[in-house]
Amino acid sequence: MPQKSHTHAQWSSRLAFLLAAVGSSVGLGNIWKFPYMTGESGGGAFVVVYLICIALVGLPILMSEWLLGRLGQKNPMSSMQKIAGRMKRSQSWGLVGLAGILGAYLILSFYSVIGGWALAYIKYAVTDTFSTLDGDSVGSLFGNLLGDPSTLLLWHSVFMIMTVGVVIGGVAGGLERAAKTLMPALVVLLVVMVGYAATTDGFAEGVRYLLLPDFSKLTAQTILAAMGHAFFTLSLGMGIMMAYGSYLSDDVNIGRTAVIVVFMDTIIALMAGMAIFPIVFSNGLDAGAGPGLIFQTLPLAFGHMSGGWLFGILFFVLLVFAAWTSSISLLEPVVEWLEEKTSMNRKGATIAAGLATWALGLATVLSFNVWSDIHPLGIFDKFSGMTIFDLLDYATSKVMLPLTGLATIIFVGWFMQRDELKSQLNVSSGAFSLWYVTSRFVAPIGVAVVFVFGLIN
Ligand code: PHE
Repeated sequence: MPQKSHTHAQWSSRLAFLLAAVGSSVGLGNIWKFPYMTGESGGGAFVVVYLICIALVGLPILMSEWLLGRLGQKNPMSSMQKIAGRMKRSQSWGLVGLAGILGAYLILSFYSVIGGWALAYIKYAVTDTFSTLDGDSVGSLFGNLLGDPSTLLLWHSVFMIMTVGVVIGGVAGGLERAAKTLMPALVVLLVVMVGYAATTDGFAEGVRYLLLPDFSKLTAQTILAAMGHAFFTLSLGMGIMMAYGSYLSDDVNIGRTAVIVVFMDTIIALMAGMAIFPIVFSNGLDAGAGPGLIFQTLPLAFGHMSGGWLFGILFFVLLVFAAWTSSISLLEPVVEWLEEKTSMNRKGATIAAGLATWALGLATVLSFNVWSDIHPLGIFDKFSGMTIFDLLDYATSKVMLPLTGLATIIFVGWFMQRDELKSQLNVSSGAFSLWYVTSRFVAPIGVAVVFVFGLIN
């Protein structure tokens, strides 16, 4: 199959790139997943491990992915092949890019269903459903949504159409501009939510739960979960940041930009936790409620605070927006790959990728109701209670992303030339040495150890 030529689009500015990267990284991972994982894993100790993973693994890998993309100037698979070829290394390095593309496909299939939940909650907010809720009925509102496959399917479909609609036309125009106003709005709204949480009785307990570690709660499983989440939340191990790096001009300082993205991503996740746990404790809810956590806590706050009706609508609109800027980044690599490897044009490739993702999403939709008792890997103790949705999440976050990330950092740290890396990163010698040691030793060893222990325990 002849390779089609790849157009090297460039970000219009450093700010545009920064926004796109923040848009991809800040999403359901920060506001939906981080709080519920913290709740399932016992609080502060999980948060501490997560923060360590972000700093020692996430940050260096984010920089590596951008650097590879900028050097390769192609889709993730071809970029890896090109750089490997130049260094007389095996073309199999391209498989790292391919694994990332597969991961993106699997993640988007369930991401879209959760994005659909957020859409459904916009509707509840608009119809003022929250003001009637108490600790019990907020659970049944969520339970009823999950129990109803046709409603879930409807919202999943709407979310997929929104995603396809943007990707089909290229990402640049509308979304970039919208991100500029909507992302700051999300931060402001989270501040309001934290402000509300501060007025509840459970505030001190909630903050303590989030920030005071109880290390006796740590297990190999929670450490693996924290590490996997560091990859998920920064959109790593999927070729996405590599693709974004391929549109990056040489004058952008990768190190500084990466620090900003990581900082924003982390702050937003922590703020979501500060908004949610006080409400959990003030209302006698269960912090370990799992994926439904934000949908069973925040509506209570909206129902009780003054102006809550409006804030409720705003919040879920912004949540959808955060999810949307991430979901387009998940579809993009699949589309780019189809476009280059088949005879499809962009439109055809986007529709095909969208349909395939939508179809796989049905498995997640059904995992919460009709198929809730189907546990495909039930013969293994470890996976016994897991639905198809749980397994998709496990396979991507805890297996595929860490492995792809590991391969990426080994490639950069051990197979590329120090001088080239140094000139690419363009940071002070001290900062470079720190990055280099982390990339060669700390990150790969850390990922490998956590991964192996998490799997065998
Ligand atoms: N980082 C996004 C989030 O936290 C999810 C995502 C994962 C987006 C992987 C792109 C790639 O919600």
